[in-house]
Amino acid sequence: GVPSLLRVTPSMLKEHNGRKGKPAWSSYEGKVYNITPYLPFHPGGEGELRRAAGKDGRKLFMEVHPWVNWDNMLGECLVGIMVAEEQARP
Ligand code: HEM
Repeated sequence: GVPSLLRVTPSMLKEHNGRKGKPAWSSYEGKVYNITPYLPFHPGGEGELRRAAGKDGRKLFMEVHPWVNWDNMLGECLVGIMVAEEQARP
C-alpha cells in the first residue's frame, strides 16, 4: 500500500546519524531515506555512505556519481519529507 511519510525536521534528520544503534537517514531533494539497510551493499563502501548519514546527502552524492539514480535505488527506503523545524506536527 501507500506508505505514510513522516514529517522530518532538520533536528530529527541530524539525530538519525547511524551512531549508537540509531538508524542512518539521509535527505535528497527534500525527501528522507533510511539508508541503514543499504549500507552493507553500497559499492563505494559503508564508510563512504555513512558520510551522508544524518544530513543532506545530495552534494556528496553528486560529487561522486551523478549518474546513479538515488530515487530508483532507495525508493523503498523513503521514510519522510523535510519540513521546517516548527512544522513537525500537522
Ligand atoms: C559507488 C550508490 C551515496 C561514494 C556507488 C555505486 C552505486 C552507488 C550504485 C556504483 C556506481 C558505479 O559503479 O557506476 C549510492 C547510493 C547512494 C550513495 C544509492 C545514496 C545514498 C554515496 C555517498 C558517497 C558515495 C554519500 C560519498 C560520500 C561512492 C564512491 C563510489 C560509489 C566513492 C565508487 C566506488 C568505486 O568505484 O570504487 N554508489 N551511493 N556514495 N559511491 Fe555511492
